[in-house]
Amino acid sequence: MDSSFPLESPSMSRRQFLNFLTGSAVAVTVGSALYVYGQVFVPPQEVSDTGGTLAKDKNGTPIPASQILAEPPGTRALVAGIAGEPTYLTVTDNQVLDSVGIVNDCTHLGCTFPWNPFDKQFQCPCHGSRFAADGTVERGPANRPLKLVHVNVQGDAIWLYPWTENDPRTGKTPWWV
Ligand code: FES
Repeated sequence: MDSSFPLESPSMSRRQFLNFLTGSAVAVTVGSALYVYGQVFVPPQEVSDTGGTLAKDKNGTPIPASQILAEPPGTRALVAGIAGEPTYLTVTDNQVLDSVGIVNDCTHLGCTFPWNPFDKQFQCPCHGSRFAADGTVERGPANRPLKLVHVNVQGDAIWLYPWTENDPRTGKTPWWV
């Protein structure tokens, strides 16, 4: 990882960054299909007139959709999302990006976590919480589903939008709204 990367990023605390490193190390260990190991975070974030944020890499460069879609179905690509939050994007079986993104921020105490492609779960290394592919809790101590964002591909640009309507997993107002 680039040692010159600033820890004092304005959109990410030192704790969040260290959590991210922890999660990424585990991702490699389990052979996760993380698309961009370590390629996260660098603001500033640019927000469009419609409230969209471009998905970016660690250098703050927008990531083309075609770059992620060159990966096989089932790939979880980790990008810098809204306000710099690490966010998983999924390559679907139809070789498009899923319209739902999963924020990489454990709802227990905020650790980041890898995708385990063998168990098909997000598995938090801190206290063992496990989440289904849609972010639903499968094992605690976390007791809330993972935060969602909307993913909208326009041309080759990947735009992320806040999720403010009902959570499709619970049918209720999301906990983060
Ligand atoms: Fe993820 Fe505790 S922070 S299980």
